[in-house]
Amino acid sequence: LGAAAFALPLERSARTKFGDQLEKLPPPFGAELPIPKPLPPTRASATTDFYNITMKKGTASIIPGLPTPIWGYNGQFPGPMISARKGRRVSMTVTNDLPENTALHMHGAYVDGDSDGYPEDKMPPGGAKTYVFPNRQNARTQWFHDHVAHHTATNVYKGLAGLYLIGDEFEDNLPLPKGQFDVPLVVQDRLFHADGRFLYPFEADDHSTNGVEGDVILVNGKPWPKMTVANRSYRLRILNGSNARVYGLALSNGQPLTVIGSEGGLLERPVRVRSLPISPGERYEVVVNFAGVPVGTGPESRVTLENLRADEETTREIMRFDVARRASDDSTVPAVLRPAKDQIDDTHQPCVEADAVRTRTWVFKRTGGFWTVNGKIWDARRVDARPREGDVEVWEFVNNGGGWIHPIHPHLVNFKILTRNGRPPHPWESGYKETVFLDGNDRVRVLIKFPKVPIEGTPGPYARKFPIHCHHIEHEDHDMMAQFEVSGAA
Ligand code: C2O
Ligand code: CU
Repeated sequence: LGAAAFALPLERSARTKFGDQLEKLPPPFGAELPIPKPLPPTRASATTDFYNITMKKGTASIIPGLPTPIWGYNGQFPGPMISARKGRRVSMTVTNDLPENTALHMHGAYVDGDSDGYPEDKMPPGGAKTYVFPNRQNARTQWFHDHVAHHTATNVYKGLAGLYLIGDEFEDNLPLPKGQFDVPLVVQDRLFHADGRFLYPFEADDHSTNGVEGDVILVNGKPWPKMTVANRSYRLRILNGSNARVYGLALSNGQPLTVIGSEGGLLERPVRVRSLPISPGERYEVVVNFAGVPVGTGPESRVTLENLRADEETTREIMRFDVARRASDDSTVPAVLRPAKDQIDDTHQPCVEADAVRTRTWVFKRTGGFWTVNGKIWDARRVDARPREGDVEVWEFVNNGGGWIHPIHPHLVNFKILTRNGRPPHPWESGYKETVFLDGNDRVRVLIKFPKVPIEGTPGPYARKFPIHCHHIEHEDHDMMAQFEVSGAA
């Protein structure tokens, strides 16, 4: 079917039903939550873990009885999880066994431009590329996903996304829940055809779309799964890996979520909230203590992770925790998690607004049928900003109306939010961030200190380009992406 057959009214993308769409959705809480395990490296040297990953077709079992063809790293959906350590390099050799161009971006990584998955740095079918990640950042939850210009939305939707955790000693020494009590949750939504295939209702090149929101919510690749838990604390590393959907996370028993981390790793102090908005690309880490929930098998022992921003019945719930056993708990959430001085790493350099040498404004809006940045569409030949390493700048992100959401993500850098709509940021977004949610008409000012790019190979004068874009992936593809070039002397 051509794009025209699927041209949707922009504001109704989630509620429109498509011709052969799956009618009978799988029952919620029918599948047990899969817990991702770290992919073992192909080999390791004194300094580096090496991975060989092949992007290929595979099959996922999501809808009972109806296999779903996917595109995956190593043919897996959801993608593999890599566990890295601060100070130890990761070298990933990625081979493209898919019929289309791909580019792998390590979202959140402090990395040389050559390994950043620049949108035009394409691996053609049959091609391969080695990406090197220095991991000189504090413990944090990252993810990697496809980033090829104009086809990221379809490639990610088909399954090209995986988790990448960085651990460090500082975090190891905190009494937070660990091991089996430290669980990543990758939240994604999908539409399905009646035969179990993912339904993507647009042509990849269709600029008219305001994105694809599915009526089935997947966590770690299963529809509305349940996790059988003990009556104790869990650390949940939540990634919104959806193309376009924003979730308002909350627990059905009214219990708070204790936010301990965001994209830049642990917050200085935990923040307790009743609900937590999370937009595409963002990560929040929360601790949830089930000690107050009666252990058992009845409804009183069940706590649902809800979505307060649901636009239809099926997306109101995300997953369920069934508190079925007792366990001791020696974990705690310390009142100070990672104090300011221990926040410092290569992308978290201390600076204050008074250090800023300039302010740049980035306006995200719809212009002439395209999603644009400052009225312009993506053009690899145009550089929109040229900060030098060490410069401190204020970047102002403006959502210019229409009620659209835009999660904004510059590569390479981490930032601190100075103001959201003229006021201090929400407490949960007070840590280091690299993706920031612009709702409705939001205007967010952030403070960035441009780090030295970790150049691989011969040092010397350099200039490297990095994209800044909306992480609502259909917006990014069409064409809400610009770029900045960081340069330095040696
Ligand atoms: Cu996760 Cu440039 O993106
Ligand atoms: Cu957007």
